[in-house]
Amino acid sequence: MKIEWTDDLITGVPEMDEQHKQLIALLNEFYEAVERGEREEGIRRLFDGVDRYTVFHFSAEEAFMEQIGYPELASHRETHAIFRREYLAAMERHEAGDRKAARDLIAFLFSWLYTHIQKTDKRYAAFYHRGAAQN
Ligand SMILES: [Fe+2]
Repeated sequence: MKIEWTDDLITGVPEMDEQHKQLIALLNEFYEAVERGEREEGIRRLFDGVDRYTVFHFSAEEAFMEQIGYPELASHRETHAIFRREYLAAMERHEAGDRKAARDLIAFLFSWLYTHIQKTDKRYAAFYHRGAAQN
């Protein structure tokens, strides 16, 4: 089960929409590598790519929220940090030999990202669009 980009993920902030698309593409590559039983180095390399891009995206998103004066920045930032801790821990379980960990990790990444964009990211987008409409 790959995740597809759908219109209900659109925030209307073009830079963030592009980054979300890119993140979904990287997650799908990671998923496919796990599904086809790619060797450990390949899995690790793709995971590192997902992690690097996630860190880049979260800091871009946090900078954007700061720039627009978004009042819920602190809790949003915390949500990002918790997410990263959780997926790094899941990757450690995978590397420690837990055979279910990679699939659990992917299921977690997919469902978290989807819900996060739809619910949490759309809140800063709504705030931004309200402000943009007033100016
Ligand atoms: Fe976010």
